[in-house]
Amino acid sequence: MKFFLDTANLDELKKGASWGIVDGVTTNPSLIAKEGRPIEEQVAAICKIVDGDVSAEVVSTEANAMISEGLKLAKIHKNIVVKCPLTRDGIKACSALSKDGIRVNVTLCFSAGQALIAAKAGAYIISPFVGRLDDIGWTGMELIKSITQIYRNYGYKTQVLAASLRSPTHVIDSALAGAHIGTMPFKVLDMLFNHPLTDKGLDQFLKDYAKAFQPQNA
Ligand code: E4P
Repeated sequence: MKFFLDTANLDELKKGASWGIVDGVTTNPSLIAKEGRPIEEQVAAICKIVDGDVSAEVVSTEANAMISEGLKLAKIHKNIVVKCPLTRDGIKACSALSKDGIRVNVTLCFSAGQALIAAKAGAYIISPFVGRLDDIGWTGMELIKSITQIYRNYGYKTQVLAASLRSPTHVIDSALAGAHIGTMPFKVLDMLFNHPLTDKGLDQFLKDYAKAFQPQNA
């Protein structure tokens, strides 16, 4: 499973990248807005930190405008993946950009039917939002299971990116469901490290070693 960081914050990305386990980055207009720099500058800076797919989302809502915005974003760096929302115009833009060889991440997917549409439009990535479905009382993970199954049935090449992941359990369940990618906030990636038995075990190892080899009253 590929791990993507769902952030536009450069400090978080540097820290994650230093662990050698970050395969890419997803951003959205809200995440870019939080950093206070125009998207072109911010994603260019991100591409210098992480050598992998970096999703940059269009903010136009009409297909032709999305296409020209997407073409501009794609020129920033070879790793840019243009993100389009799952609307009729977004799908029209996805079809056109994909035919032009530009990789598109179709975002804001909340149903298996929408995921089928994105695959048919040649999307490189589909982003189903797990946490936001949980928020309205649905089981977001069921959507990941359905999409991976449907794509397998027909051999679609579109990668399933489990998005809106809010906990380590979301990451593990997405991996069990066969998602190709999980994108998560830095906090969730950091939490994946934690286990009390790791801390307890290490503490004991170091104490035993010190007792055997370090002078007691030095
Ligand atoms: C995905 O690309 C989205 O940016 C993201 O996962 C949304 O997550 P949220 O629902 O926590 O905002």
